[in-house]
Amino acid sequence: MTVSDQGLPLPQTDSYLLGKIGETDAGFVISIDRDSFPPVEGCICLKGADINATKTHAKVAEILAGKKVDVLLSDMAPNATGHKEMDHERIIELNLELLNIATHVLKESGSLVCKIWEGSRTRHFQSVLQTVFEETRTIKPDASRANSAEKFIVALGYSNPKLDVLKR
Ligand SMILES: C[S@@+](CC[C@H](N)C(=O)[O-])C[C@H]1O[C@@H](n2cnc3c(N)ncnc32)[C@H](O)[C@@H]1O
Repeated sequence: MTVSDQGLPLPQTDSYLLGKIGETDAGFVISIDRDSFPPVEGCICLKGADINATKTHAKVAEILAGKKVDVLLSDMAPNATGHKEMDHERIIELNLELLNIATHVLKESGSLVCKIWEGSRTRHFQSVLQTVFEETRTIKPDASRANSAEKFIVALGYSNPKLDVLKR
Protein backbone atom coordinates (compact mmCIF):
# COMPACT_ATOMS: atom_id res chain seq x y z
CA MET A 1 0.00 0.00 0.00
CA THR A 2 1.29 3.46 -0.89
CA VAL A 3 -0.07 6.69 0.54
CA SER A 4 0.62 10.30 -0.38
CA ASP A 5 -0.10 12.73 2.47
CA GLN A 6 -0.32 16.42 1.57
CA GLY A 7 -0.54 19.43 3.83
CA LEU A 8 1.85 19.61 6.78
CA PRO A 9 2.09 15.90 7.46
CA LEU A 10 1.91 15.04 11.14
CA PRO A 11 4.11 12.38 12.79
CA GLN A 12 1.00 10.88 14.47
CA THR A 13 -0.94 10.60 11.19
CA ASP A 14 1.93 9.27 9.16
CA SER A 15 3.03 6.83 11.88
CA TYR A 16 -0.53 5.49 11.89
CA LEU A 17 -0.40 5.16 8.11
CA LEU A 18 2.98 3.43 8.28
CA GLY A 19 1.53 1.02 10.86
CA LYS A 20 -1.36 0.21 8.53
CA ILE A 21 1.02 -0.30 5.62
CA GLY A 22 3.16 -2.58 7.79
CA GLU A 23 0.09 -4.77 8.32
CA THR A 24 -0.39 -5.19 4.58
CA ASP A 25 2.71 -5.13 2.42
CA ALA A 26 5.89 -3.18 1.86
CA GLY A 27 4.46 0.17 0.82
CA PHE A 28 5.49 3.69 1.69
CA VAL A 29 4.21 7.15 2.59
CA ILE A 30 5.17 10.31 0.71
CA SER A 31 4.65 13.39 2.90
CA ILE A 32 4.34 16.68 1.00
CA ASP A 33 4.00 20.32 2.03
CA ARG A 34 5.00 23.62 0.41
CA ASP A 35 6.35 24.68 3.82
CA SER A 36 8.98 23.01 5.90
CA PHE A 37 7.92 20.41 8.49
CA PRO A 38 9.68 18.22 11.03
CA PRO A 39 10.96 14.95 9.57
CA VAL A 40 8.46 12.11 9.81
CA GLU A 41 10.37 8.91 10.50
CA GLY A 42 9.89 6.25 7.87
CA CYS A 43 8.28 8.61 5.33
CA ILE A 44 9.65 10.13 2.16
CA CYS A 45 9.38 13.84 2.96
CA LEU A 46 9.03 16.48 0.25
CA LYS A 47 9.38 19.80 2.06
CA GLY A 48 8.96 23.11 0.27
CA ALA A 49 7.03 21.23 -2.43
CA ASP A 50 4.03 23.08 -3.89
CA ILE A 51 1.55 20.65 -5.45
CA ASN A 52 0.95 23.16 -8.26
CA ALA A 53 4.62 23.06 -9.28
CA THR A 54 5.81 20.95 -12.18
CA LYS A 55 8.95 20.05 -10.25
CA THR A 56 6.80 18.55 -7.43
CA HIS A 57 4.93 16.44 -10.00
CA ALA A 58 8.27 15.35 -11.48
CA LYS A 59 9.67 14.45 -8.04
CA VAL A 60 6.58 12.39 -7.16
CA ALA A 61 6.77 10.63 -10.54
CA GLU A 62 10.46 9.89 -9.93
CA ILE A 63 9.69 8.40 -6.47
CA LEU A 64 6.78 6.34 -7.76
CA ALA A 65 8.78 5.10 -10.77
CA GLY A 66 5.65 3.99 -12.59
CA LYS A 67 3.87 2.67 -9.49
CA LYS A 68 0.52 4.13 -8.39
CA VAL A 69 -0.72 5.14 -4.94
CA ASP A 70 -3.62 3.59 -3.00
CA VAL A 71 -4.59 6.75 -1.11
CA LEU A 72 -4.18 10.49 -1.63
CA LEU A 73 -4.76 12.11 1.77
CA SER A 74 -4.83 15.89 2.02
CA ASP A 75 -5.15 18.30 4.92
CA MET A 76 -4.00 21.09 2.60
CA ALA A 77 -5.55 24.50 2.91
CA PRO A 78 -4.56 27.96 1.68
CA ASN A 79 -3.73 30.65 4.22
CA ALA A 80 -7.16 31.85 5.32
CA THR A 81 -7.93 35.49 4.56
CA GLY A 82 -11.10 35.55 6.66
CA HIS A 83 -13.14 36.25 3.53
CA LYS A 84 -15.32 33.13 3.53
CA GLU A 85 -16.13 32.87 -0.18
CA MET A 86 -12.58 33.74 -1.29
CA ASP A 87 -11.11 31.15 1.07
CA HIS A 88 -13.64 28.62 -0.22
CA GLU A 89 -12.65 29.38 -3.85
CA ARG A 90 -8.97 28.92 -3.05
CA ILE A 91 -9.41 25.57 -1.27
CA ILE A 92 -11.56 24.32 -4.17
CA GLU A 93 -8.77 25.28 -6.63
CA LEU A 94 -6.26 23.42 -4.45
CA ASN A 95 -8.51 20.36 -4.38
CA LEU A 96 -9.01 20.49 -8.16
CA GLU A 97 -5.23 20.34 -8.52
CA LEU A 98 -5.20 17.39 -6.09
CA LEU A 99 -7.80 15.69 -8.24
CA ASN A 100 -5.74 16.39 -11.34
CA ILE A 101 -2.78 14.71 -9.62
CA ALA A 102 -5.05 11.81 -8.64
CA THR A 103 -5.79 11.14 -12.31
CA HIS A 104 -2.06 10.55 -12.83
CA VAL A 105 -1.02 8.72 -9.66
CA LEU A 106 -4.06 7.05 -8.08
CA LYS A 107 -4.61 3.31 -8.51
CA GLU A 108 -7.85 1.95 -9.90
CA SER A 109 -10.16 1.59 -6.82
CA GLY A 110 -7.96 4.03 -4.88
CA SER A 111 -9.20 6.65 -2.41
CA LEU A 112 -8.85 10.41 -1.99
CA VAL A 113 -9.49 12.39 1.18
CA CYS A 114 -9.38 16.19 1.16
CA LYS A 115 -10.24 19.09 3.42
CA ILE A 116 -12.92 21.53 2.35
CA TRP A 117 -14.36 24.81 3.55
CA GLU A 118 -17.91 24.79 2.31
CA GLY A 119 -19.27 27.39 -0.09
CA SER A 120 -20.93 27.94 -3.46
CA ARG A 121 -18.72 25.49 -5.41
CA THR A 122 -18.91 22.56 -2.96
CA ARG A 123 -21.72 20.81 -4.78
CA HIS A 124 -20.02 21.19 -8.17
CA PHE A 125 -16.72 19.90 -6.76
CA GLN A 126 -18.52 16.86 -5.34
CA SER A 127 -20.27 16.22 -8.65
CA VAL A 128 -16.87 16.28 -10.40
CA LEU A 129 -15.53 13.79 -7.84
CA GLN A 130 -18.56 11.59 -8.44
CA THR A 131 -17.64 11.23 -12.11
CA VAL A 132 -14.41 9.43 -11.20
CA PHE A 133 -15.19 7.87 -7.79
CA GLU A 134 -17.85 5.31 -6.97
CA GLU A 135 -18.77 6.90 -3.67
CA THR A 136 -18.20 10.23 -1.92
CA ARG A 137 -19.00 11.21 1.65
CA THR A 138 -18.61 14.44 3.57
CA ILE A 139 -17.50 14.00 7.16
CA LYS A 140 -16.74 16.16 10.17
CA PRO A 141 -14.29 14.14 12.28
CA ASP A 142 -14.67 14.23 16.07
CA ALA A 143 -11.18 15.74 16.25
CA SER A 144 -12.25 18.74 14.16
CA ARG A 145 -13.23 21.75 16.27
CA ALA A 146 -16.98 22.34 16.20
CA ASN A 147 -16.48 26.05 15.45
CA SER A 148 -14.18 25.32 12.50
CA ALA A 149 -15.72 25.46 9.02
CA GLU A 150 -13.59 22.53 7.88
CA LYS A 151 -15.04 19.26 6.70
CA PHE A 152 -13.45 16.41 4.81
CA ILE A 153 -14.57 14.73 1.62
CA VAL A 154 -13.81 11.02 1.43
CA ALA A 155 -13.92 9.68 -2.13
CA LEU A 156 -13.73 5.90 -2.59
CA GLY A 157 -13.37 3.63 -5.61
CA TYR A 158 -11.49 5.65 -8.22
CA SER A 159 -12.16 4.43 -11.72
CA ASN A 160 -11.91 5.35 -15.40
CA PRO A 161 -10.91 8.99 -15.29
CA LYS A 162 -12.70 11.12 -17.83
CA LEU A 163 -10.14 13.88 -18.00
CA ASP A 164 -12.43 16.26 -19.88
CA VAL A 165 -14.66 16.74 -16.82
CA LEU A 166 -11.69 18.18 -14.94
CA LYS A 167 -11.54 21.30 -17.12
CA ARG A 168 -12.34 24.33 -15.03
C1 LIG B 1 -4.31 23.18 7.72
S1 LIG B 1 -2.58 23.17 7.42
C2 LIG B 1 -2.20 21.51 7.83
C3 LIG B 1 -2.26 21.29 9.30
C4 LIG B 1 -1.73 19.97 9.83
N1 LIG B 1 -2.09 18.83 9.03
C5 LIG B 1 -2.20 19.80 11.27
O1 LIG B 1 -3.14 19.04 11.51
O2 LIG B 1 -1.64 20.50 12.11
C6 LIG B 1 -2.57 23.25 5.68
C7 LIG B 1 -1.21 23.00 5.02
O3 LIG B 1 -1.42 22.97 3.60
C8 LIG B 1 -0.21 23.39 3.01
N2 LIG B 1 -0.45 23.79 1.62
C9 LIG B 1 -1.28 24.77 1.20
N3 LIG B 1 -1.18 24.90 -0.14
C10 LIG B 1 -0.29 23.98 -0.56
C11 LIG B 1 0.23 23.64 -1.85
N4 LIG B 1 -0.15 24.30 -2.95
N5 LIG B 1 1.14 22.64 -1.93
C12 LIG B 1 1.54 21.99 -0.81
N6 LIG B 1 1.09 22.26 0.43
C13 LIG B 1 0.18 23.25 0.57
C14 LIG B 1 0.23 24.55 3.90
O4 LIG B 1 1.60 24.82 3.75
C15 LIG B 1 -0.15 24.06 5.29
O5 LIG B 1 0.96 23.48 5.95
